[in-house]
Amino acid sequence: MQDLESIRKKCAECHECELGNTRTNCVFGVGDPDADLMFVGEAPGEQEDLSGEPFVGRAGQLLDKYLYAVGIERSEVFITNILKCRPPKNRDPLPEEEDACIGFLREQVKTVKPKIIVCLGRIAAMRLIKPDFKITKEHGVWYEKGNYLMTAVYHPALLLRDPRKKEEMLVDMKVIKEKYDFLRQ
Ligand code: URA
Repeated sequence: MQDLESIRKKCAECHECELGNTRTNCVFGVGDPDADLMFVGEAPGEQEDLSGEPFVGRAGQLLDKYLYAVGIERSEVFITNILKCRPPKNRDPLPEEEDACIGFLREQVKTVKPKIIVCLGRIAAMRLIKPDFKITKEHGVWYEKGNYLMTAVYHPALLLRDPRKKEEMLVDMKVIKEKYDFLRQ
């Protein structure tokens, strides 16, 4: 079994797609290498590309608020993205970019072995749960996939644009915390 550091090194050198030529940093992921809870977003934005850490910009700060609100420490989970490099102007990932990058996420999941995987937003849910995932209807629904329990919540960037969805997000996050506590007993 590989450790996260060797996967990180391969990721930092990756040029499997064009984004390897435009990134400042590869944004591999951050958190507890033994986390029971993993969050997977879409792709790094500008702040993430500059710092090399996922979810540190405005959306990330909102994610931190939800973690705090339900009593989860950022350092006890593992946070990463479908794409490890920033798409120019934050456009949606292209299918070929996802295909080129998804192996890193698979290796991260196999290594960290979380009990719960939470997709942050539609793009991650379509890739990890099902291709026709509808975030408005299916956020907060739970799926069993192999050894993992999976769910999706609204992407925090969407909540910044549409604050009316924040109440639903809090409900979903509270359920995530309940399941997380239950699975760790
Ligand atoms: N949005 C994402 O999906 N991921 C990040 O790391 C930052 C913003």
